Amino acid sequence: MNATKIVDGIYKVGVNLPNTRLFEGLWPIPKGASINGYVVQGDEIALIDLVQDFEDLPKEYQEELAAIGIEQKKISYLIVNHMEPDHTGWLGTFIKNNPHVKIYCTAKTVPMLSTFYDVASNVIPVKTGDTLDLGQGKVLEFFETPNVHWPETMMVFERSNGILFSCDAFGGYGAVASDKSFDDTLDEATVQEYIDEAIRYYANIVAAFSPFVTRAINQLAHLPIKIIAPSHGLIWRKDVARIVNLYSTLAGYATNAGDPKKITLIWGSMYGNTERAVTFIRKIVEDSGIEFFEHRVPEEEIGMVLASVWQSRGIILAMPTYEYQMFPPVAHVLDDAFRKKMFNKHCLRMGSFGWVGGAEKEVKSWAEKLKWQMHPSIEWAGTPTEAEIDKIRDGIHALIKTMESDEES
Ligand code: FEO
Repeated sequence: MNATKIVDGIYKVGVNLPNTRLFEGLWPIPKGASINGYVVQGDEIALIDLVQDFEDLPKEYQEELAAIGIEQKKISYLIVNHMEPDHTGWLGTFIKNNPHVKIYCTAKTVPMLSTFYDVASNVIPVKTGDTLDLGQGKVLEFFETPNVHWPETMMVFERSNGILFSCDAFGGYGAVASDKSFDDTLDEATVQEYIDEAIRYYANIVAAFSPFVTRAINQLAHLPIKIIAPSHGLIWRKDVARIVNLYSTLAGYATNAGDPKKITLIWGSMYGNTERAVTFIRKIVEDSGIEFFEHRVPEEEIGMVLASVWQSRGIILAMPTYEYQMFPPVAHVLDDAFRKKMFNKHCLRMGSFGWVGGAEKEVKSWAEKLKWQMHPSIEWAGTPTEAEIDKIRDGIHALIKTMESDEES
């Protein structure tokens, strides 16, 4: 990668994770992911965020700095927006080699620098409204934005150019090319792909902290933001509102339980009996005009499933009973949905059983934890009959009605 000029004296120094690496060791990134650091150069030089200490990423970061003429001994400041090691993994080595660098961060970051990287000197805690004047008109203003998504998180606003360095907020998955780093350097279809990657990133990484995202968006609303430079994904300058509105909508799903016009079907099948019903479910939902996401588990990665669940107010679970309990891969989805606080959905459960059933009890237990409103379950022994298909149709229509009535109330 090459460093990317944003405006005079301000650059992105970004790297891309290898495609095969799971993000956070957990989430698939088939389109890769970028880690974005930034340089702000006035009379003095500040770096905003570093890079993960993985394979050649620090080397690549340093080569980008060198290519734009930034000598490390001339860097005065390191701004640490938050401590997650995708942005700080190299920090211990960097400070060891450059002990003159002053670190600006929130007060909560100070002890973490010590415990993570044994760095305790030259650390300056900042609060919302504090500034750092780098000269030549470049003034950095700090905003504490706790729990977006780590407790110590802050963002930085460069006043003269209206650039918000937003940490993980407004970020997304997807590798980024040096010469295609901005939303206005890509065609609409490609930007939409990054939007989809941002939705998945949000559901996987940020969703559980949504009330704090809403608070941060409100806190920053007064700023004359012209460019959003997040720590992952595209830099937004043609349509800043697009990514802000997306994050605002996604954060809102924490309180309104998702889009009333979206349903996610999560299904599994052992011998094809539940699968036979899936053909009908698909058609019934699609005929209703509702946007429909479908995931078969365990074939589908959980990170993909959660992105659909987060957006959808309606959930359909279709699975066989397995040894008197839920089909285990579906239970795994509900467990992760609970961890990510995907509450208050409307849910219809159906499926086949071979002996006497038993999934219902476990589903009810999960629904209680998730505060999901359960519709009457539809079960069949063996393969679904015509009468059971009719019940499925009625059940889905009833589900859609209650999803939409939530919106009216
Ligand atoms: Fe991209 Fe929370 O680290």
